[in-house]
Amino acid sequence: MENKSLINNELYNTLGERWYTAFDDPVALLRQESKTKIPWVLEKVKALKPSAEKLKVLDVGCGAGFLSNRLATEGFDVHGIDLSHDSLCVAAKYDVTRKVKYQEANAYKLPFADAQFDVVTAMDFLEHVEDPEKVVQEVSRVLKPGGLFFFHTFNRNWLAYLVIIKLVEFLVKNTPKHMHVLNLFIKPEELERFCNRSQMQVLEMTGIRPRFSTITLKSLLTRTVPENFAFALTPSLKLSYLGLAQKKIDQVAP
Ligand SMILES: C[S@@+](CC[C@H](N)C(=O)[O-])C[C@H]1O[C@@H](n2cnc3c(N)ncnc32)[C@H](O)[C@@H]1O
Repeated sequence: MENKSLINNELYNTLGERWYTAFDDPVALLRQESKTKIPWVLEKVKALKPSAEKLKVLDVGCGAGFLSNRLATEGFDVHGIDLSHDSLCVAAKYDVTRKVKYQEANAYKLPFADAQFDVVTAMDFLEHVEDPEKVVQEVSRVLKPGGLFFFHTFNRNWLAYLVIIKLVEFLVKNTPKHMHVLNLFIKPEELERFCNRSQMQVLEMTGIRPRFSTITLKSLLTRTVPENFAFALTPSLKLSYLGLAQKKIDQVAP
């Protein structure tokens, strides 16, 4: 097992425009995967929060804004926080609405008052911090009662180690060492426990997997991510999973 502190979060300061353009880097996997994750999030938000009011959304560890920028085009009032100044600059550059409020901040100490947001998202993020429960507590603190928390992370088992860490290192060039660390992956039942202890109830989880049929011979030979590489939802939570939790509404004593 690897040491927890090995996680390489510095790499997000080196990507620049490559967040949006590179295919010879694992960031292309994140970008392609977001094409399946974002519609899932949007569908759930619209179903569960059909209010006419402008929803206030916080994207924690927003990176270069794949989700934040898309949510802003849907008319939501979006805030994005991340530790990586460089990534936030790229995110702002690709925000066609020019309305997302990007801010450098640490997810352990969100710079917002309690009960501010209708929706908080943390996509491909909780496995990048050593104390994910502390982040979940912060998420719950800033969520309004009844607010929604969307997450995406990786399960912790040897199959996930082989596919998400080793196979990616083998198949995609420029994969930095310790981009992911097995010990920081999170079992679905652990994440559910963190949510429960922070007054949030998990409503749904779904797996997400690569469509291996979209791998091409050229991509294998060049060790790049195919431009049409796609992901699909799957019932299995074995590798990578998305989820949705709701902040409990305080019961008023009769
Ligand atoms: C894999 S990227 C995910 C980016 C984005 N959520 C997405 O799905 O495209 C992880 C991000 O977490 C950020 N990060 C790591 N630790 C953080 C922390 N303690 N607080 C805020 N952001 C952090 C990194 O800078 C990086 O942008």
